[in-house]
Amino acid sequence: MTTILEATHVEKTYGIKGNTYTALQDINLEIREGEFVGIMGPSGAGKSTLLNIFSTIDTPTAGEVVIAGQNIVTMNEEQLSDFRRNKLGFIFQDYNLLDTLTVKENILLPLALSKVPAAEIERRVNEIADTFSIRDILDKYPYQISGGQKQRTAASRAIVADPSLILADEPTGALDSKSATSLLQSLKKLNEENGSTIMMVTHDAYAASYCKRVVFIKDGQLVQELHKKNQTRNMFFDQIMEVLAALGGEHDDIV
Ligand SMILES: Nc1ncnc2c1ncn2[C@@H]1O[C@H](COP(=O)(O)OP(=O)(O)OP(=O)(O)O)[C@@H](O)[C@H]1O
Ligand SMILES: [Mg+2]
Repeated sequence: MTTILEATHVEKTYGIKGNTYTALQDINLEIREGEFVGIMGPSGAGKSTLLNIFSTIDTPTAGEVVIAGQNIVTMNEEQLSDFRRNKLGFIFQDYNLLDTLTVKENILLPLALSKVPAAEIERRVNEIADTFSIRDILDKYPYQISGGQKQRTAASRAIVADPSLILADEPTGALDSKSATSLLQSLKKLNEENGSTIMMVTHDAYAASYCKRVVFIKDGQLVQELHKKNQTRNMFFDQIMEVLAALGGEHDDIV
């Protein structure tokens, strides 16, 4: 299997001389094509910092990050913006949908910007809308749809151009449990049927139980990982809860 992401000795230190804070320390992580990886850990552990580095929004203080064969640490701004558009898909908590465009127009925007032919756009949008169960709301505007539908629209837009790596930071954080389940099922389907590679940061053991592998981070270091074997999602959930309990820290919002 092809390696999609390889992080080697990644370190992130904030602040200036004499008053520094090390948010990440010697992070080594490989993600292969077709993986669905969850990143978990207590608040302040460094999860968002790590995701922001992989997203190219932030840069590491030391170490190397190679995504889809390209070293993202040494790229200039122009190369980075091309790279983000062509190789990465982002699913964040705030949906960032354009209010004056319909759901369909929001989703097809990245394809239109890349000058993909109209027939191909139509095919891709319908396929993705089926995956995320939003086919019946394609002609509505963002203000006419629910939070869960907005999140699934944003997720559809993030992946419509078939990125090498999908990065999600707490994608279910603002959703009720029904909408969260629906989004997670869609991501799982995308991973299993489309072979999409996904990395998802989450506080929520339920969300993490949809992953195939969960990596735990504490005080800026990767401390443990779990692989989902031949076990049910419930069994994997229990295993995740055990590791979280052993790690300690704040987990008041994991129910
Ligand atoms: N710009 C910054 N300057 C200084 N310190 C920062 C900065 N950004 C983050 N930190 C610190 O780095 C550590 C890791 O932060 P990060 O946001 O990655 O945590 P997290 O694991 O995502 O937490 P949460 O679960 O609460 O979202 C925290 O202690 C935080 O205070
Ligand atoms: Mg965070």
